[in-house]
Amino acid sequence: MSATPLVAPGKARGARLVSGLSPTGRLHLGNYFGAMRQHIEGQEANEGFFFIANYHAMTTITDGGALRRLTMDAAIDYLALGLDPERAALYRQSDLPEVTELAWMLACAFAVPDLDRAVAYKEKIARGLAPSVGLYTYPLLMAADILVMRADVVPVGRDQLQHLEMTRRAAARFNAIHGREVLKLPQAQLGEARVVPGLDGRKMSKSYGNAIPLFAERDAARRLFMSIKTDSAPPEAPKDPGVSTVFALLALLAEPEETASWARRYREGGLRYGEAKERLVALYEERLGPARERRRALAADPGRVEEILAEGARRARRVAGEVMAEARDAAGIPG
Ligand code: ADP
Ligand code: TRP
Repeated sequence: MSATPLVAPGKARGARLVSGLSPTGRLHLGNYFGAMRQHIEGQEANEGFFFIANYHAMTTITDGGALRRLTMDAAIDYLALGLDPERAALYRQSDLPEVTELAWMLACAFAVPDLDRAVAYKEKIARGLAPSVGLYTYPLLMAADILVMRADVVPVGRDQLQHLEMTRRAAARFNAIHGREVLKLPQAQLGEARVVPGLDGRKMSKSYGNAIPLFAERDAARRLFMSIKTDSAPPEAPKDPGVSTVFALLALLAEPEETASWARRYREGGLRYGEAKERLVALYEERLGPARERRRALAADPGRVEEILAEGARRARRVAGEVMAEARDAAGIPG
């Protein structure tokens, strides 16, 4: 069996998509354009399994009440943004006990030096997080999420590519040790948006305090867009759209023709940033206003959201149960 490349070319069709979101805070435009949008768009032509990674969130969130709320919020966000529970399964990671079971089996097949190379771990430690064993083995839990569902394709942001590489290595090691092709090597699918810039021009991130949330009310959103840092070039000076945060956000929110026309106006000179920012406010409202309304309705009906999650978990467990039965059999663990 020849291995497929780590990154799948183009957009998947007819594949099983599996991806997760760690519920660690209010979602922002970076989360949407970097990761979630391709989950939701993928549900049309594929079999989608999407989950809220609440065990992963335990590596950073220690308050149980907060984690419970954030988990529910993330489920509501997904649904408000267009995840269709008739098409794709939406579930909580913790509703699949098979995930943590497989994570242990993978831990026995994986080498410490391989985990030592994880850049996400080093970054988090550098930011001051406690070096827990959970944080260290985060990539193995993520590998279990993916492998237990026998995913073909995993749509993720570029920052998760190393984790996908580790997932493939863990699957190959498990199969080699136990002499059977139990686990399928998945491929990553990367979103179009590389890095969405935040208000200060750095990567948009909740830990930098430079994020534009997905569901801000109109006035709050307006204040944020108006505060985007710009250079001090006078209006008449020609400007490079390639280095402008305002332009990068326009390119995400506007249709391609409109984006092209903004690019022309930047280069020609005569553009006031204020005008471009006003357009951003309007585009944000057009694109996210309806989702914000849907979000309000869903938040008022937690029983319905619970039902959707329970049904999603049932569908996911049918697959996970089969994969685990094979994995236990291969490893010599009675099932
Ligand atoms: P944060 O940096 O705000 O803590 P997370 O690390 O929780 O965000 O991000 C969840 C996912 O959203 C990431 O795996 C990444 O793919 C995507 N993402 C987050 N911020 C950005 C960004 N600024 N640009 C592109 N993608 C992003
Ligand atoms: N680590 C991912 C992130 O920070 C979230 C995640 C957990 C995930 N398990 C996954 C993504 C499995 C894809 C597949 O964004």
